[in-house]
Amino acid sequence: MAKNETSNRKKEHIQLCLTDKVAYAKSSGFDEYEFEHYAITEVDYKQIDLSTKFFQKRINYPFLISCMTGGTTEAEKINEKLAIAACELNIPIGVGSQRQALENNSFHESYKIIRKNAGSVPVIGNIGAAQAAFSSKLTEEIQFLIDLVEADAMVIHVNPLQELLQKEGEPNFSGLLKNIKKLTRQIKTPIIVKEVGSGISKSSAKKLIDAGVKGIDVAGAGGTSWAAVELLRSKAKDDYFKEWGMPTTYCVRTVRDLKKKHEFMLIASGGINSGIDIAKSIALGADLAASARPLLKEVMNKDAGSVIQLLKNWFDDLKKVMYLTGSPSINKLHKSKIHLKREMI
Ligand SMILES: Cc1cc2nc3c(=O)[nH]c(=O)nc-3n(C[C@H](O)[C@H](O)[C@H](O)COP(=O)(O)O)c2cc1C
Repeated sequence: MAKNETSNRKKEHIQLCLTDKVAYAKSSGFDEYEFEHYAITEVDYKQIDLSTKFFQKRINYPFLISCMTGGTTEAEKINEKLAIAACELNIPIGVGSQRQALENNSFHESYKIIRKNAGSVPVIGNIGAAQAAFSSKLTEEIQFLIDLVEADAMVIHVNPLQELLQKEGEPNFSGLLKNIKKLTRQIKTPIIVKEVGSGISKSSAKKLIDAGVKGIDVAGAGGTSWAAVELLRSKAKDDYFKEWGMPTTYCVRTVRDLKKKHEFMLIASGGINSGIDIAKSIALGADLAASARPLLKEVMNKDAGSVIQLLKNWFDDLKKVMYLTGSPSINKLHKSKIHLKREMI
């Protein structure tokens, strides 16, 4: 591979993601839901506890900054600001794909800058399944990437649609589950598997959990469409696959069934655009929600304070929902009643 190919692709991704041409036309599903108002709430608004856990660490809000970037000079600046925001809010932050860091060490700083600025908040490493499926030195490489960012968890992202439509894509994931199983046995750091916008179904999640995966980030449809990104990059016409993918709410409410028998962290992402979306994610069964592109747009050409303010506004709205549904803590919001709007007439 040409030395700067990965790095150049990352730059293009960031530029395209700053436009709304890459958004799904279909909805993530959150608008279809409404909360059951609890008129006799006895929750003291000031005492509401939004904190929860990310594996062993206590975090202030049920939210993480999703994996986005690394491997370019521009990425270093973005990651620095996002890490400052994560540290200030005490929430986890993901690193973008660390593939570039395996190719050469030109941009190692663009990844390391996250831990440098994030203090002790959970940091999440990231690599694509297409790479993880084939490396002969898989365990050593993943451990190297974990150490590079001092990660508390490692994400393997599955993106078959993106690989299929990307001009340089590698649409072959054979051996993936076997390698994930090997990794979960050999690496002590918890492994999370996430999609990038097409969603993870209950049956896929079950296989991943059986393979030892400790977290599922559904990254469903309704937010950023990576098919749209790749179609724009290759200047191809829109086609059926631009809208391919399962809405985030569908993924969360079906995958959560597995919680009856299995212990794992369920993350709702893909089209999370507000505190109300976070609240609905939790009420539908997610442990945390996560967001990517809305935060990228907020941080570009602005400082960390701008993302911090946006997220504080989101968390204020989450708190209001908790009060109005009689949920003094995140655990109680889990059991809160949420209905399809069409059932509330
Ligand atoms: C600029 C950008 C770069 C991304 N790069 C990665 C990546 O390297 N690894 C990954 O797992 N997901 C990556 N994603 C996907 C997001 O983590 C997320 O799953 C997806 O964008 C859907 O969330 P959203 O609708 O909030 O954007 C990226 C997203 C954006 C916007």
